[in-house]
Amino acid sequence: MDRIRIVGGNALNGIIPISGAKNAALPLMIASLLTSDTLTLENVPHLADVEGLIRILGNHGVDIAVNGRREHQDGSYSRTVHFTCRTVADTTAPYELVSKMRASFWVIGPLLAREGQARVSLPGGCAIGTRPVDLFIEGLTALGAEMEIDGGYINAKAPKGGLIGARYTFPKVSVGATHVMLMAASLARGTTVIGNAAREPEVVDLANCLNAMGAKISGAGTATITIEGVTSLSGARHRVLPDRIETGTYAMAVAMTGGDVTLSGTDITLLDTAIEAIRRAGAEVSAVEGGIRVIGHGDQIRPVDIVTEPFPGFPTDLQAQFMGLMTRANGVSHVTETIFENRFMHVQELARLGAKITLSGQTARIEGVTRLRGAPVMATDLRASVSLVIAGLAAEGETMVSRVYHLDRGFERLEEKLTRCGAIVERISD
Ligand code: UD1
Repeated sequence: MDRIRIVGGNALNGIIPISGAKNAALPLMIASLLTSDTLTLENVPHLADVEGLIRILGNHGVDIAVNGRREHQDGSYSRTVHFTCRTVADTTAPYELVSKMRASFWVIGPLLAREGQARVSLPGGCAIGTRPVDLFIEGLTALGAEMEIDGGYINAKAPKGGLIGARYTFPKVSVGATHVMLMAASLARGTTVIGNAAREPEVVDLANCLNAMGAKISGAGTATITIEGVTSLSGARHRVLPDRIETGTYAMAVAMTGGDVTLSGTDITLLDTAIEAIRRAGAEVSAVEGGIRVIGHGDQIRPVDIVTEPFPGFPTDLQAQFMGLMTRANGVSHVTETIFENRFMHVQELARLGAKITLSGQTARIEGVTRLRGAPVMATDLRASVSLVIAGLAAEGETMVSRVYHLDRGFERLEEKLTRCGAIVERISD
């Protein structure tokens, strides 16, 4: 299993190209199941989760053609991928595949809408919490589907003539359930109005792509989304939006190590709340042409309290990284997690680097320390593992992060991007 070795202490200086968003690419890829035409996605990141979903979609009958990578001067490259599902080969998503990646459960929406039926394995537990699927079941039931749980699978069946538009208000905000409702309702008969919808930029990206495919969706990005059903969708060409979590992660890294980095190919408006928190912590962050410039001052980090919330609140996917930053603040800060009940596994690992963190329910109290010291640590989930990398960059001496397959799920060419900016980071393959 690969490990990442970091020798901390160097400031970051240069350009970091930001990749396409994993969390946008996954639902966009799944949307290819809605049409027999070709959906072409540009700026698709090269990540383990994307490759995993490519295999899963192949199982459902999607032909996939990957167009070469184009290297750019700033070190970025873009991948264009063509997805064509002439006919759905299989409406079952088996446990072996769904259990590896929760987002693959979302195929239930398009399969049900296009084929009138789907048999999809329940995703099962996950390291960061129980993550149930009740909202998906309720939402699709509102569209007329019969949903039955049997032997660890959901058997979903649309009424004769297809799903029927309806008004449905989510009792809780869910990104995934909103994606699934957008896809399912696009091919339903009549109009669907979703209340308490997720407002994440990735939901807007999916709605834009579906509209380019011929859907009639309005209100994406607000809490109320209206979808007028159409009888069929066509192909389209769509560019995956930049990864706001990767953007925020590197911005926090610079705030922590000090230095001057331009994050290229991204957009400051995708992460206002996180940028505000980084600024309050003392870094200078500004919009520049084609990206964001971050100037960090390393040793003068101010303590800032944050609470994770659905968009436009502070993203849960940046919580671990921000906690990493706060470990070196000049004072006490609090980080409260409200989205997932068990998303503090990084606390124990950050403590190994010398961080002083105490947990009380869903809130972590972080007492900043003047220095962290490198140590062997273990990645526990995707975002937690990158918080360890950031902390390692700012720690004295060597940090060895094991179980880096978590990182490969969501961070494209991390070592290369950081090394180009002066960090000492290398992958060790055993
Ligand atoms: C997506 C993101 C993930 C991010 C999360 C929250 C992708 C691929 N993943 O995950 O990176 O951390 O949004 O921003 O885009 N819930 C229920 N019942 C349901 C569905 C969800 O109770 O049927 C709960 C979850 O357990 C969680 C909360 O709702 O507590 C939010 O989860 P959700 O927004 O659905 O997360 P994902 O879409 O899985």
